[in-house]
Amino acid sequence: MESTIYKKNYPNWDYEEIINEIEIFLKIYEKRPISNNKGGMKFPHAFGLYFILKKINPSLVIESGVFKGQSTWIIENTLPNAEIICLDIDLSKREYISKKAKYSNLDFKFQDLSKIPENTLVLFDDHVNHLNRIKEAYFFGIKNIILDDNYKSNSGDFQTIKQSFEKYSFNHQLKITSIFKTLFFFVKLLSKKIFVKKFNAHKELNFITNRIRDHSLNKNEFKNIDKIIKTYYEFPPIIPQNSNTEVPLLDQANEQLKDYLNELSVYNHLTFIELK
Ligand SMILES: C[S@@+](CC[C@H](N)C(=O)[O-])C[C@H]1O[C@@H](n2cnc3c(N)ncnc32)[C@H](O)[C@@H]1O
Repeated sequence: MESTIYKKNYPNWDYEEIINEIEIFLKIYEKRPISNNKGGMKFPHAFGLYFILKKINPSLVIESGVFKGQSTWIIENTLPNAEIICLDIDLSKREYISKKAKYSNLDFKFQDLSKIPENTLVLFDDHVNHLNRIKEAYFFGIKNIILDDNYKSNSGDFQTIKQSFEKYSFNHQLKITSIFKTLFFFVKLLSKKIFVKKFNAHKELNFITNRIRDHSLNKNEFKNIDKIIKTYYEFPPIIPQNSNTEVPLLDQANEQLKDYLNELSVYNHLTFIELK
């Protein structure tokens, strides 16, 4: 396993500029609609998302993985003029619902993205295999990608690009209840296949694949992904973390961050990618 960070053509965003934005972001973040976003973004990733969005300034943002809606709110408040498309296979968890975003529970790869602006940006926070998501974005001609949880090896719940660089294949350790649920869906699918002549299992198979997220890296896979990537940039953590990260923005939390101390260690290598 390699321990260095994958880096490619870093944007010219210097630390001073990023640190100066923290103060501006704090004024936005204190108005967030969901104070406890357990299972969603915390301060370090919310700030990274804000900073990258401001820099890229896309006219369309596609968000895959909405959950309670906190990240939708951040997108909306960072880029008030951008169009927003929000995707989640389960939209029932939303607590914040944007008036301007268009919502859909259809997977990203099944969307009609035949007419989208050149500078579209997609945020993947849906815990779907990053290698597949990057290939799908490339297919749709979307160049700007933010990956929320870009877990390192031996962590997370799906195959990430960071793990792929480290030559780590993700093996999904499922809880017994989840295995039985998947078995139920699979038996249901097979029964329909046997008894319903016109039944087409494509969507259900996709659903089941996403429940057991094992990935076995092919030796050429990372090289082929690397070929289509122009920029790969892991947004730095705010304060030092005990893992292989970029240099943190600050040595320690300062006075202005005192309300978010418990959020500052929640960091999983939020990453910006620009495709060729
Ligand atoms: C980590 S949460 C998203 C958190 C949210 N972005 C935030 O920061 O507040 C992941 C979400 O992805 C959704 N999800 C799972 N599979 C998906 C898929 N194939 N497409 C879109 N969303 C999916 C889940 O239903 C869940 O709501």
